[in-house]
Amino acid sequence: MITQKIPHLFYGGDYNPEQWPREVWREDIRLMQEAQVNFVSVGIFSWARLQPKEGVFDFDWLDELMDLLHEGGIGVNLATATASPSAWLVRKDPKVLPEDPNGQTYYPGSRQHYCPNSKTYQEASRALVRALAERYGQNPALVSWHVNNEYGCHFPACYCDVCAENFRVWLAERYGTVEALNGAWGTAFWSQAYGEWAEIFPPRKMPTHPNPTQLLDYQRFMNESFLRLYKGEVEILREVTPEVPVNTNFMAGHKPLDYFKWGALQDFTSHDAYPDPKPGEEGEIEGAMANDLTRSFNKAVPMVLMEQVSSQVNWRGVNTLKAPGQMRLWSLQAVAHGAEGVLFFQWRASRAGAEKFHGAMVPHVDPAKSRVFQEIKGLGEDLSCLDDVIDSRIQAECGIVFSYENWWALEAGSKPRTFLYHPLVKETYTSFWRENLPVDFIAPGEDLSKYRLLVVPSLYLFRDEWAEWLREWVRAGGVLVVTYFSAVVNEKEHIHLGGYGSPISDLLGLWVEEWQPLHDDERVPFRFEESSRREEAVYFTEKIHLEGARSMAHYTEGPFAGSPALTVNDFGKGKVFYQGARFSAGLQHEWLGKLADEIGIHAPLKVPVGVELTVRTKGDREFLFFLNHQQKTVAFSLGSLRGRELLTGQDVAESLSLPPFGVAVIERREG
Ligand code: GLA
Ligand code: ZN
Repeated sequence: MITQKIPHLFYGGDYNPEQWPREVWREDIRLMQEAQVNFVSVGIFSWARLQPKEGVFDFDWLDELMDLLHEGGIGVNLATATASPSAWLVRKDPKVLPEDPNGQTYYPGSRQHYCPNSKTYQEASRALVRALAERYGQNPALVSWHVNNEYGCHFPACYCDVCAENFRVWLAERYGTVEALNGAWGTAFWSQAYGEWAEIFPPRKMPTHPNPTQLLDYQRFMNESFLRLYKGEVEILREVTPEVPVNTNFMAGHKPLDYFKWGALQDFTSHDAYPDPKPGEEGEIEGAMANDLTRSFNKAVPMVLMEQVSSQVNWRGVNTLKAPGQMRLWSLQAVAHGAEGVLFFQWRASRAGAEKFHGAMVPHVDPAKSRVFQEIKGLGEDLSCLDDVIDSRIQAECGIVFSYENWWALEAGSKPRTFLYHPLVKETYTSFWRENLPVDFIAPGEDLSKYRLLVVPSLYLFRDEWAEWLREWVRAGGVLVVTYFSAVVNEKEHIHLGGYGSPISDLLGLWVEEWQPLHDDERVPFRFEESSRREEAVYFTEKIHLEGARSMAHYTEGPFAGSPALTVNDFGKGKVFYQGARFSAGLQHEWLGKLADEIGIHAPLKVPVGVELTVRTKGDREFLFFLNHQQKTVAFSLGSLRGRELLTGQDVAESLSLPPFGVAVIERREG
């Protein structure tokens, strides 16, 4: 349980009362109670309202609001309000504003216009956090702290002179001497050598390909710059209110921040998920993956879906509406993937401003006549039936290795082809998702003891020490799958010489000599040794030289005809598969599904395609979530499974029928 103050799944959303007159607040509380809302995030963009001038705080309105919410039985996730600096701060010091790589300043008028290294911003934001913590630390409505908001969402990296100065200091700490930096950055190339720290710049606009290590180090530095900001706020909160949980909201697909490093500093993890509900986009897979990623950023603490939309967003070209029932389905999907709370952006739809067409729990029309509000009430009712699942967890035996450093390096350009990391990872994830096998995302170096099957998709940047980390686990019996373009460079982005993949060539039982990347319309046929089945490689192929591994499939045409496309190597008590080519999504799914099956990792039940099944466990209690992602009714056998369906309170056995977008949550009962 995140807090004894709310012994239920959290339910609510971002609440921005400063946009409304006081009369509306009372109506809000009444509607929140009607919808069984128990938790709202207040003040995320309230800096200007809380501190209208330097040194002048106005807390009266928030005092009153906190009281109202508390009387209404609603807990507050109080924001530190630092996500968007006030106009007066920018006027006081225009250097608060961030700059892009072209030297273009980003001005006030929207939000998040601050440089993470601005001392003025840091000092002013910390003063605000301290004032809030001191004033509301003991307030009975306070449940948790919402620090800033979606760090780096709109402005993921600043390139201003202040950042340049801080970058030099960061580099001096990292490398010690300019010579060491020259070595790491490979500045012998293109006459890039530096004689002094002062000669170094952030990777601003350049004539052509930037130095890849300079680029990578800047991404590391920016991640740490934002993390330092976060830590700065958290330190104050932990000092003044040590017992209040702190959190900041992640975006699972957000590249600039290494959330594994951030996860450790959260009392619960949370994320904002806006998959496209357009039919055919398979938003349910993106949503599932976003929940599993966020859950994985800190596996020891609870996870919450902090934001989603009730109906439609306002920031795509065409903003498809969630179909009736889909909001409920995707909300319960979050719970099915471990969420201990389901929240929305936002409570009441704005009347003015850039987000007035963004869906909300309370729309512009009379809530009593609104489909959306009726569904919001329905969801409140559903969540209130799920108290028993609180503190139950997802137990995964499959893992996908995911590295932010690799993401940054792999997509930096100047490679044998353009790579997009997230789609590659998602392809692996989708294979497990379609088999209803729970999966964790794993940062290199994490404890692997609970996993039996691990996939390492295109881990191009590979630190030497990761080799022993994998070896140890495979030796003990782990089954590892590594895919093409892995272990190519080290953390400085220098090639691992002696055959690509050399740091783990003993593990793989092979080395890679060269590659042939493929255009979208190109295919290279290959054949499985055992079955003689023919398939086609897409995207990327490699020339593999076996050194102990066995070929499971080989190319039948093209420059690498006769050489392996897929291999297996015995290593200790385990096995290592190497996939030197990208498979079609269908084959990837089939192959990984079969592999999991062979090593005895199965879904608890076979369900029809289009139905998702997850399991949450707590001691010996087991909760099975069945989610029908189709707009048609499905019925299927439950085999020997019997139990109580929590949303209806009915006993179920033998078979289950799910209406379009229907959900069932069954607690298993023995016998
Ligand atoms: C983000 C922000 C919210 C809101 C939504 C709109 O998640 O945190 O303030 O702008 O996007 O989708
Ligand atoms: Zn800056």
